[in-house]
Amino acid sequence: MSILVTGGAGFIGSHTVVELQEAGYDVVVLDNLSNSNVKSLERVEAITGKKVPFYKADILDREALEEIFSKETVEAVIHFAGLKAVGESVQKPWEYYENNIAGTLTLVDVMRKHGVKNLIFSSSATVYGDPAFIPITEQCPKGQCTNPYGWTKSMLEQILSDIQKADQEWNVILLRYFNPIGAHKSGTMGENPNGIPNNLMPYVTQVAVGKLKELGIFGNDYDTHDGTGVRDFIHVVDLAKGHVKAVKKTEEKPGLKIYNLGTGVGYSVLDIVNNFEAATGVKVPYVFKPRRPGDIATCYSDATLAKEELGWVAEYGIREMCEDAWRWQKNNPNGYDE
Ligand code: NAD
Ligand code: UFG
Repeated sequence: MSILVTGGAGFIGSHTVVELQEAGYDVVVLDNLSNSNVKSLERVEAITGKKVPFYKADILDREALEEIFSKETVEAVIHFAGLKAVGESVQKPWEYYENNIAGTLTLVDVMRKHGVKNLIFSSSATVYGDPAFIPITEQCPKGQCTNPYGWTKSMLEQILSDIQKADQEWNVILLRYFNPIGAHKSGTMGENPNGIPNNLMPYVTQVAVGKLKELGIFGNDYDTHDGTGVRDFIHVVDLAKGHVKAVKKTEEKPGLKIYNLGTGVGYSVLDIVNNFEAATGVKVPYVFKPRRPGDIATCYSDATLAKEELGWVAEYGIREMCEDAWRWQKNNPNGYDE
């Protein structure tokens, strides 16, 4: 089976390409490199020993998509391509709605014209808003998002569900990721944020490597065991393997399926700092800062459905997530830049 991976040069995409190739799938990658470096794919090739056919193209570019679908045999699409910076989305809502929503509509239109109706979509725990209950199952009602990025995910879930409802040949799998961290064991691939990281783990590793002075912890007065925010951190390789299981699922009968991909365990920001220090022996100085607007206290999954229906469970623990994130950062202090 051959799979088009949009956004395949990015953090989760590149790790997924490794797992797909190692599971024997043929993969084609499309990415406009707006938030990634093509070197990630060279690293993939070095790990798997297989070529990664790559198109530098935009999902908004219908002609480019037409060319790819005409030239390549595409049976399923894993759709990672999208803008994902929460704060930036508040400043640039038009750009986020245009890129994520118009881009996905264009992709889906080209897919159906070419008779490709298997789609795995990167959604997010952000669609639950401030969750109605914890641990969060897929039955938890979707909530109010606090930023345009979150709304693009929530709206795209609705759009893709409606498309599947209208045409039962579609096989749509919505994967709601919790907080991916960590990196490939080789230490050659990992997260490569532009500028100062927004997310916790890349901030921690950049403090540890000496690029940033100290971690600011956003809030220590939440109703959690130590007052700092609690999240469901998941190793990116586990997340990538979840996509391989989802691809297998598309070989069954069509339909709409929704799965949480998380570990089911919540760790606080301070737990992460302490586990990182214990796993690596490197100190991470921190200061407490006010809460970050839009953050919630606690978010972690119940991932039972993915276990039952996909046969998937997250295998890596917090220690490996920290060790692997650190190996990547230490070996590549400037990410994929020389
Ligand atoms: P990433 O930025 O590393 O990867 C996204 C990739 O999409 C990048 O390589 C970027 O260049 C590409 N891209 C963006 N717009 C494009 C366009 N118009 N055409 C072609 N390529 C385009 O991000 P990631 O962390 O790997 O996330 C992958 C997906 O998972 C995204 O859709 C993201 O919203 C979603 N997600 C991420 C997280 C997270 O915490 N990392 C959590 C939940 C959901
Ligand atoms: N945090 C800090 N300091 C930092 C960065 C983060 O204290 O410098 C805290 C946050 O306040 C939060 C926790 O660390 O309590 C995790 O924050 P992240 O920014 O790493 O992750 P979020 O949970 O806010 O959001 C991430 C992605 C979203 C995605 C969501 C899914 O950024 O795109 O996970 O659960 F939707």
